[in-house]
Amino acid sequence: MPAEHDGNELLRTEGLAKTFGRGKDEVRAVDGVDLHLRRGEVTALVGQSGSGKSTLGRLLLRLADPTAGRVVFGGRDVTAVRGAARRDYWREVQAVFQDPFAAFHQYRRVEATLATALQLMPSETRESGREAMAAALAAVGLDAAETLAKRPHELSGGQRQRVMLARALMLRPRLLIADEATSLLDASVRVTVLNLLADLRDERGMTVLFVTHDLGQAYYLADRIAVMHRGRIVESGPAEQVVAEPEHPYTRSLLADVPKLHRSS
Ligand SMILES: Nc1ncnc2c1ncn2[C@@H]1O[C@H](COP(=O)(O)OP(=O)(O)OP(=O)(O)O)[C@@H](O)[C@H]1O
Ligand SMILES: [Mg+2]
Repeated sequence: MPAEHDGNELLRTEGLAKTFGRGKDEVRAVDGVDLHLRRGEVTALVGQSGSGKSTLGRLLLRLADPTAGRVVFGGRDVTAVRGAARRDYWREVQAVFQDPFAAFHQYRRVEATLATALQLMPSETRESGREAMAAALAAVGLDAAETLAKRPHELSGGQRQRVMLARALMLRPRLLIADEATSLLDASVRVTVLNLLADLRDERGMTVLFVTHDLGQAYYLADRIAVMHRGRIVESGPAEQVVAEPEHPYTRSLLADVPKLHRSS
């Protein structure tokens, strides 16, 4: 078993790459990324549209196969896990995506959507399934009695996104990948959800990869910031440091677009 570089490390990638297309159509969406996620920390992955953030997230989730490199989770190489081993991995690593509508079955009620998470749970904990659903919905600010019987089209975009977050949290993952998960939320609900993620980090020690194009949200929530540009991580470090002393010109240009930065605590 390979030793971890750092006892606090939950996940790392080594030279991770994903290329789409060939020849002149080739796109190096992820181009040699060494990312380190430490236990119980929120790392923000920041970069403009098309920089490769979602592709990197999908590689970490084993929803796509990398062209090169590896993903190591908890000291174990998970680069090629599939089948039952991949389902086990998904108990520990959950995600909420940019477009929550795509993640829903069109005619399925919220209760049935949340029940699919229960199937990934160990059977001994399934008993309390309904309680787990209600608690997870309450945590994201939704009323269980009102929400469980609804179908996706009967919910707002922000409500759908919160249902998907509730579904992810029911599994008590060690790592949550939130890919623009707060982008559809209005300002007050967004702050509620950002604070919820901060609480999950502080109380459960959950590790979060918070993917966003918004440096303001990244700074509000994150312990560390990794800046992605054209498939590469061009800068990473403690959030305060990246914001106060940006080293890369691309980070400086992102900062120039943010009027005022606030922290959650
Ligand atoms: N399945 C695919 N086939 C071909 N090209 C793709 C595919 N997925 C992503 N790309 C390309 O890879 C690059 C990175 O895309 P990606 O979705 O990872 O960016 P992103 O940083 O998440 O952007 P956004 O902020 O808009 O969500 C883009 O040039 C995109 O067009
Ligand atoms: Mg994206």
